[in-house]
Amino acid sequence: MQDMNSVAEIIRAETTQRGVLPFARFMELALYHPEFGYYETQKHNPGRRGDFYTSVSTGELFGHLLAFQFAGWLEELRSAECGVRIVEAGAHDGKLAADILSWVQSNRPKLFDQIEYSIIEPSARRQQWQQETLKPFASHVHWFPDVQEMAKQAIPHSALRTPHLSGIIFSNELLDAFPVHRFGWDAENKKWFEWGVAIAGGGFIWAKLENSAFRIPNSELESVLPDGYTIETSPAAENWWREAAGVLARGKLLAIDYGFTGEEMFSPARTRGTLRAYFRHHATDDLLANPGDQDLTAHVNFSAIQKAGESAGLMTEFFCSQTKFLVDILATTEKNKPFGEWSVKQTRQFQTLTHPEHLGRAFRALVQTR
Ligand SMILES: C[S@@+](CC[C@H](N)C(=O)[O-])C[C@H]1O[C@@H](n2cnc3c(N)ncnc32)[C@H](O)[C@@H]1O
Repeated sequence: MQDMNSVAEIIRAETTQRGVLPFARFMELALYHPEFGYYETQKHNPGRRGDFYTSVSTGELFGHLLAFQFAGWLEELRSAECGVRIVEAGAHDGKLAADILSWVQSNRPKLFDQIEYSIIEPSARRQQWQQETLKPFASHVHWFPDVQEMAKQAIPHSALRTPHLSGIIFSNELLDAFPVHRFGWDAENKKWFEWGVAIAGGGFIWAKLENSAFRIPNSELESVLPDGYTIETSPAAENWWREAAGVLARGKLLAIDYGFTGEEMFSPARTRGTLRAYFRHHATDDLLANPGDQDLTAHVNFSAIQKAGESAGLMTEFFCSQTKFLVDILATTEKNKPFGEWSVKQTRQFQTLTHPEHLGRAFRALVQTR
């Protein structure tokens, strides 16, 4: 019997009971078990994409550019009854929030006085870590465990029915961290089956689930997909987006993440799906090893997310690469030079954020509006 850590023991007990565990449940426990999940125990995991940077770990510039863009959006929104609210979902160690708030404080002091920064973070432990990072901004930041709680508590006049929030709701690298269901293509029977997890020889193995509650939308490419072609889907991410869209009365819903359109997801060349594990900052293919000790993440299906927002009444404003998103922001800043002279450090950060070989192409930005 191989040694198992605490999360593995918990997953093993549930798998033994259920026979085959949907992979999404494995991922949920591995990442978010309230005591032993990866996100509960790994306070800082900079460069969580192995040898790559995240946009936030690159430096402050990413947050500063977002802050500049948010200030512009809030300006447009503020005309009527609107408050000045920025909602960040999944704030990790609080660094991005600190970068955004410090830019607003130094560059838009009036706006800073009015700003309410809400963080949606289900993990109580992470909330505490974020509170430490955000001590200098304590009077402006409030925490909520989920969207509904935020809508209930943060907007006291909302005897109104939802939606009722005015402002910006955004996330960076949140959608990729929602549990995914993993499907394989059975070429002989021309149908999809869902992968689950079973126990064998004291470890975890892949096993087909007898019945799946989820399905993969039909694709014209199915006739050419090789047997075993793998793809993931994340109803949890879509539901989260729909819920966030549902409380937004007026404003913007923004996601920055790595991902594909629905069509790109089905690339016949990518036969093994997009799910990856990161163990001690290196990518590994062994997705079922070391649950709780390794990060698990899959590319976002932006078409599905876009559809979820549109079904909640939002209009898609743009969907583009991080390169275009940030270059366009920078182009707006040229008019009034809020960043002063561009330093060597800022130039280097901007290159990392926007160069196609670094973070520029893989990461995308989706903005929907009401
Ligand atoms: C990969 S980190 C996000 C990275 C971070 N935004 C950054 O830019 O560095 C994922 C974060 O989302 C949080 N999270 C997980 N499920 C969530 C949910 N349903 N709503 C909001 N946050 C969630 C996790 O606890 C963690 O803080």
